[in-house]
Amino acid sequence: MSIISKDIEKAAAILSAEKLVAIPTETVYGLAGNIFSEKAIKLIFKTKQRPLFNPLIVHIPSIERLKDIASHIPPKAQQLAETFWPGSMTLVLKKQETIPDLVTAGKDTVAVRVPNHPVTLELLKQLDFPLAAPSANPFGSISPTKPEHVTSYFEDNIEQVLDGGACKNGIESTIIGFENEDPIIYRLGSLSIEDIENVIGPVNLKNKKEIKPDAPGMLARHYAPNTRTFLTENVLEEIEKHVSKRIGILSFKTLFKDKRITTQIVLSEKGDMAEAMSRLYASMHTLDGQNLDVIIAQRFPDYDLGKSINDRLQRATFSS
Ligand code: TXA
Ligand code: MG
Repeated sequence: MSIISKDIEKAAAILSAEKLVAIPTETVYGLAGNIFSEKAIKLIFKTKQRPLFNPLIVHIPSIERLKDIASHIPPKAQQLAETFWPGSMTLVLKKQETIPDLVTAGKDTVAVRVPNHPVTLELLKQLDFPLAAPSANPFGSISPTKPEHVTSYFEDNIEQVLDGGACKNGIESTIIGFENEDPIIYRLGSLSIEDIENVIGPVNLKNKKEIKPDAPGMLARHYAPNTRTFLTENVLEEIEKHVSKRIGILSFKTLFKDKRITTQIVLSEKGDMAEAMSRLYASMHTLDGQNLDVIIAQRFPDYDLGKSINDRLQRATFSS
């Protein structure tokens, strides 16, 4: 029997028994456990094969619970939370003493968000503890945006995938922290910098590919398909470099009619970046399952959500 089910009460019971459930969010599916259960949190790291230095995001049902998690809330953080929650923004704030070190990887800050998915909001309301939930994929592989992606990774390791359909936004949340009360973006994501700056003014970006990153979502090669992937502004020119290979194309809005292409996915025929983003990971999963030699991805226009999409495409490539 499939472990994919819509039963919220069952999910609540499993989580209360310190076991794991994959939960739907509007960004990607998360691998969730009780933040106060050492057993559950250890199991999250083990299941994902995630290094213990990489902290988890805490999910709460409403902004009212933020004070239980964070000991200090800068005015701009409050403003952002009021504007974008429930939604695809994660705040990194000074943690309350009650938040276990295992969740924050020993840091004195904690990452927290209110996800915008009716099923998971209902689940969180039924529980008397918040949920730690990293994306429900093995460390370094593509994040899941459909229940079937999760089962393809973890069928035997978890009790239930709580079915919430396909994730609307399709890439992870945007992570914002504060250094001396100044806002800093640690991870580009499905809320654009432009939207954030409209609320709190200019923000700095620290989304670099460092060896020891502040947010390990920033590791250079992450979100990666198994198939060799190349990112380019000029798809036809890139095809020249891979003659007589099985080539898959992942493009924004253009259908390339070229005999050398084995298969192609156009992310948004009407050129809508939000639509393209919502289909990005699922399309990477699809191409990765087609026995291709190479995937050639087309670079997006470098503004708005195009920046976040380019960030993920860049991390999927070998050449970065
Ligand atoms: O959209 C999302 O954020 C999804 C859904 C499930 O909510 N979750 C997600 O979690 O992407 P994960 O674990 O794959 O990514 C969490 C990122 C990591 O890059 C981690 O390093 C960073 O958040 N992070 C967590 N706590 C942090 C902290 N205290 N300071 C800086 N970065 C932190
Ligand atoms: Mg992840």
